[in-house]
Amino acid sequence: MKKLFMMMMAGLLITACASKPQAQDSNEPAKKVLVLYFSVTNTTKQLAEYIQQKTGADIEAIQTTVAYPTDYQELLKRWGADRDNNVLPELKPLAHNVADYDVIFLGYPLWGGTYAQPVKTLIASGVLNGKNVVPFCTSGSSGVKQSVDDLLKAVPGIKISECVGVRSSLMNKMPAAVDRVLISLGLIEGQNEVLADYSAQQAPTAEETAIFDAAISTYDMMKGTKAVSVGSRKTSKGTDYKFVGEANGGKMDIYVTKENGNEAPYFTAVDR
Ligand SMILES: Cc1cc2nc3c(=O)[nH]c(=O)nc-3n(C[C@H](O)[C@H](O)[C@H](O)COP(=O)(O)O)c2cc1C
Repeated sequence: MKKLFMMMMAGLLITACASKPQAQDSNEPAKKVLVLYFSVTNTTKQLAEYIQQKTGADIEAIQTTVAYPTDYQELLKRWGADRDNNVLPELKPLAHNVADYDVIFLGYPLWGGTYAQPVKTLIASGVLNGKNVVPFCTSGSSGVKQSVDDLLKAVPGIKISECVGVRSSLMNKMPAAVDRVLISLGLIEGQNEVLADYSAQQAPTAEETAIFDAAISTYDMMKGTKAVSVGSRKTSKGTDYKFVGEANGGKMDIYVTKENGNEAPYFTAVDR
């Protein structure tokens, strides 16, 4: 399963783990879809509501009995305290019966590189066991990959064929990234561009290094990261790059897009 997922991850826009487009079989009964999401500052909520609007799915927010603070520093403190004390936040009961649904879209912000703490509580309740789950997340910079790997490890029998992660500063790219997943799942009409694999990693040219440096210059925490190698692919919109970057002795994959025209290059995800 992990290998299959990794293969699918090779062809991503934003950080969608889109597999090959699938045609919807019109004889199949409509799938029952539930969008379950956790969101503190409403970024992930925007994806959840977009998915709901496009699919007509049922939707519900995962809520903790003690609400999280929306102030960033306070939120970091509470997250740190819960993590250090190994506390799973208590959830309010869900109004929807997860067992009634064929597909669960599961949304969360990335905290510490993976799904936010309340999703851990949901997993512990067992309701996701054996379900078809489509993870979606927002983050400052991290990609969705780590959280999907963690879901595959933590949830017995979970099936994941698609996922999508969007950086909170790239919400203008969100509809296209989410549509790709919805089309691939046969939940909306449309045709996905078939994306080529990235070319083999090689030392970046001066031009590629300049594209990398421009893309990461917008995000303080990436400053000082050096491009070690790069693979690329052409798309109808421009060029996607998969850089291997290095900072403080650690390596990471950094996905960068340079669209045709004047828009500055931007990075879509960092997988550490
Ligand atoms: C406690 C905490 C931990 C975070 N950890 C990460 C992280 O590891 N990687 C990352 O890219 N962003 C991280 N972020 C940023 C959030 O993922 C991002 O702001 C997200 O879009 C917030 O979603 P929401 O508005 O739905 O709550 C973190 C934010 C908080 C508050």
